[in-house]
Amino acid sequence: MALSTGSNKIKTAVFISGSGSNLNSLIKFSKLKKSPISIDIIITNNPKSKGLKFGKVFKIKKKIFNFKKKNLAEKQILFELKRKKINLICLAGFMKILSKTFIKNFSGKILNIHPSLLPKFKGLNTHERAIKNKEKYSGCTVHFVSSKLDSGKIILQKKVIINKSETPKTLGKKILIQEHKLYPRAILKVFSL
Ligand code: GAR
Repeated sequence: MALSTGSNKIKTAVFISGSGSNLNSLIKFSKLKKSPISIDIIITNNPKSKGLKFGKVFKIKKKIFNFKKKNLAEKQILFELKRKKINLICLAGFMKILSKTFIKNFSGKILNIHPSLLPKFKGLNTHERAIKNKEKYSGCTVHFVSSKLDSGKIILQKKVIINKSETPKTLGKKILIQEHKLYPRAILKVFSL
């Protein structure tokens, strides 16, 4: 596998709240020569986020912001991102909704991964709702972030079959495996020359 120095890549911040498996896959992708991005900072609202360990493993700077005061947190994040000359934000299991003002500041430069086939099942508990609704398929979507929740332009989607015996847990696991492949593919689709 070809590794690159990352010097002329798009400087990227990844925002997480939980286990960070998408962050891990994005970091690994970023180290490939073909990757148009480097990951320069990890941002979280959750000091207990398990994904923070990847910052340590890969020596990437991480910062925790308290979203109890969301306006202040967003201002501090913007300051930090501008200081580090970040040009792209990848939301990867980030469970806070960013304000319109924040999104405007990074207009067209925020991507998100969502565990459903949007526009179906925006918001939370997607797997429960897909199973309850007796859907034959679910999946994941990478999209641009707009001011309307989970509604920005879709970049790529991946479908998975929902089996008869499927539980939200098994479906979630199955979709997560696809997420890890889909996010890098979507980044390549948007940013490759
Ligand atoms: C992923 O399934 C992601 O699609 C979802 O949270 C999980 C995070 O897993 N995101 C959302 O639901 C956003 N609304 P990870 O922390 O292991 O990457």
